[in-house]
Amino acid sequence: MKRQLHLNLFIHSRGHHEASWRHPDSSPLPLTDIRYYQDLAQRAEAAKFDSIFLADQLALGGDAAQAARTWLEPITVLAAVAVATQRIGLIATCSTTYTEPFNLARQFASIDHISNGRAAWNIVTSWLAAAAANFGGDGQVSHADRYARGEEVMSVVKALWDSWAADAVVDDRASGRYAKPDRIKPIDHRGDFYRVEGPLNLPRCPQGRPVLVQAGSSDTGRRFAARHAEAVFTAHMAKPAAQEFYADLKRLAAEEGRDPDHVLILPGLSPMIAGTEAEAQRLAREANDLTDPEVGRKRLSNRFGGHDFSHLPLDRPLRAEDFPDPATVQAARSRTEVIINLVRRDHMTLRQLLGYLAGARGHYVTAGTPEQIADLIENWFADGAADGFNVMPPLLPVQLDAFSTQVIPILQRRGLFRAEYAGTTLREHYGLPWPQSAFDAPARQAALQGA
Ligand SMILES: Cc1cc2nc3c(=O)[nH]c(=O)nc-3n(C[C@H](O)[C@H](O)[C@H](O)COP(=O)(O)O)c2cc1C
Repeated sequence: MKRQLHLNLFIHSRGHHEASWRHPDSSPLPLTDIRYYQDLAQRAEAAKFDSIFLADQLALGGDAAQAARTWLEPITVLAAVAVATQRIGLIATCSTTYTEPFNLARQFASIDHISNGRAAWNIVTSWLAAAAANFGGDGQVSHADRYARGEEVMSVVKALWDSWAADAVVDDRASGRYAKPDRIKPIDHRGDFYRVEGPLNLPRCPQGRPVLVQAGSSDTGRRFAARHAEAVFTAHMAKPAAQEFYADLKRLAAEEGRDPDHVLILPGLSPMIAGTEAEAQRLAREANDLTDPEVGRKRLSNRFGGHDFSHLPLDRPLRAEDFPDPATVQAARSRTEVIINLVRRDHMTLRQLLGYLAGARGHYVTAGTPEQIADLIENWFADGAADGFNVMPPLLPVQLDAFSTQVIPILQRRGLFRAEYAGTTLREHYGLPWPQSAFDAPARQAALQGA
């Protein structure tokens, strides 16, 4: 079969444009109303998206007065979305820096059971400096320490998910036997950060393990993704950078002994869609006119670990020297490099940079007709820049509907996207294998010998 695209809907605020929350065309529902998330997931499922995704930060941030900074805790949302949908994959973000691995393993295993095999975890190390103040207050954990802890969390969580064989539960009322004790094993983990005895207090997941998603972009982050991730989110402002990232991550995955086809690369894409290009650009300008430069200035400061940009005039062209060296930034280092490269390339003013970042925080932003958006998607997909896209509609739900009803049919006609779901689990939608555990190996051997 022809290689097909994977599409994920990234649900964020009332859309990815910074001013979406106050746009007259975005959803009237409160951001704390679960019907908002259920409705978006149902729309995405009707359009045959592979999955939906919820990001998360562990602090409010300083601009709640002028920006919609509230959202529900993502794992809790997934439980409610799972019971309102049947097929679509469900991805929630949770932090390895601020969550115990036993809780992580248990919560995502629960979502996998609740959804019958549609759960995925977006593994983050939490770059936002303000988060540290909510968890003990000892200051930001360094980039390197966050990833070192993340590695240990991954080995604990995987071992806990593998601590039950798929056939461990007997649940036989007549004999009084609930489970086979020899098919459940403790993990006895003793590491630098955690001691965890195990086993998990839940049977093996419908997917074996929930799908693992990651978005590391620094050198350390890419290696982490290459070792663990089955889907990788990434942000690029130009196709050559996306191609470089794609080739590098596939190479690193092969170096880790993994099949590069089992590491899907999904760059962010935020398209404003209309019947003509001029109308799409008018819609984009209309959203930009609603932005507040001071909200953008605070966001930029967060990106650079709290660096003060308040003295910079809005209308003078920026220089690379106006920014701290990315190597000294303990937040999301790779995104700071993207921003500085953009300033070097386009000699923008601060106002122009903030306007650009307002679109989708450094992801690829475009405005055009459905044909133009479908052409762009096909072009990146065919040219080694993407296995699919993290679709980030600037306004929700209107621009999701435009994508679903106008762009997806073109992709389907070109044979690039499914017309129906073939499977029921997210692993099946993404074309990922069953994750083997130590318990599976002898059972497989026996099955092979019996055959
Ligand atoms: C699409 C996308 C979504 C992300 N979502 C989150 C998130 O919800 N929470 C978070 O702390 N970081 C999030 N990140 C940041 C990444 O986890 C990572 O820190 C960032 O890409 C920088 O990579 P690095 O840590 O290797 O420098 C996201 C990144 C991308 C591209």
